Amino acid sequence: MSMSKEEPAFEYTNVFQVVCSSMIHWGRLLVGGLALPLVFPWLVYNLYRSHFKNKIFRNRALEDKVVLITGASSGIGEALAHAFHKAGTRVILAARRKDALEKVKEDLMTKYPSKHTPAVLPLDLHDLKTISGRAKEALSIYGHIDVLVNNGGISYRGEAVDTDLEVDLRVMVTNYFGPVALTKAILPTMLERNSGFIIAVSSIQGKIAIPFRSAYSASKHATQAFFDTLKSELSHTEVKVCVVSPGYVQTNLSLNAVTGDGKQYGVMDQTTADGMDPSEAAESIIIATAAQRSELILAGTLPRVAVLIRAMCPWLYFYLMGSRARRLRAANLIKED
Ligand SMILES: NC(=O)c1ccc[n+]([C@@H]2O[C@H](COP(=O)([O-])OP(=O)(O)OC[C@H]3O[C@@H](n4cnc5c(N)ncnc54)[C@H](OP(=O)(O)O)[C@@H]3O)[C@@H](O)[C@H]2O)c1
Repeated sequence: MSMSKEEPAFEYTNVFQVVCSSMIHWGRLLVGGLALPLVFPWLVYNLYRSHFKNKIFRNRALEDKVVLITGASSGIGEALAHAFHKAGTRVILAARRKDALEKVKEDLMTKYPSKHTPAVLPLDLHDLKTISGRAKEALSIYGHIDVLVNNGGISYRGEAVDTDLEVDLRVMVTNYFGPVALTKAILPTMLERNSGFIIAVSSIQGKIAIPFRSAYSASKHATQAFFDTLKSELSHTEVKVCVVSPGYVQTNLSLNAVTGDGKQYGVMDQTTADGMDPSEAAESIIIATAAQRSELILAGTLPRVAVLIRAMCPWLYFYLMGSRARRLRAANLIKED
């Protein structure tokens, strides 16, 4: 009797052991089956990235290249001028303020005296009819351009309904039509040589629109679309295109932003002041150039999640943006971040 009482307990233990070991077996198979295809490409990608993070390899890939940078007189463009110059490229510094460009040139020559002497090119992206002439001037300096960095631009603060159409046009021409005109003037020479790299410094606001930034966000969405299209159209050539989408970077962008009535905003927003260091942004852009990447997002988790929500769950995105707009309006902060 005592034997028959113990038997079921013995069976239960056996069943438990069999279930456990088969779970472990299937768990291993599942983890192995999933992990391998995920981990292997991840390892290859990181090896590839670390190759270009290595300054020796990166500088070898960039050395002596001719790099035209717009908006090189301050902020991200100035940091890019330092990074590209230090990497041994021949930089052409472009923006409206010639004196500020000369100052950047002087800084570069003082800091790295053994490198190529930078060239200065006064250029107004808003003056469309002068752009092809400026592009010819840029091309005549070294005979060609290897890397075109479309970085120059302005921001905007205001409410769409109160914004003069002139302001919408100004932001759109400076941030979108100017870079498009410059790219169209230089691209044929890159195609002739079947070599070149075009960077468009857009913004995370080229992927998502936030309230009270209509003109800026529209100009960056247009930038994203134009350069994405160009990327595909040039896929049969060795001319490559990369769209860079920064979040907040510590520059004068908000100080120089234009308001709905055309005045200068003149305020350093806290989000901008707390943003990424421009030299960190420049470092990532230079790695992307050496690696010929097609896209670079320079933002934290929150903006990346916002991009996903906009694509996958638009009603939630507009619910969140609507409450953000109402909160800023109630606090009379529609020009601030
Ligand atoms: N800072 C950020 O948080 C952030 C975030 C996302 C994207 N971005 C983008 O990054 C790029 C650089 O901005 P930043 O942050 O470095 O701001 P920034 O310090 O204000 O620099 C803007 C640059 O653009 C030039 N520029 C403005 N209007 C121009 C025109 N009509 N023609 C030629 N150049 C012009 C300015 O030079 P002159 O005044 O001498 O012409 C200056 O060098 C912009 O495209 C901006 O949209 C910035």
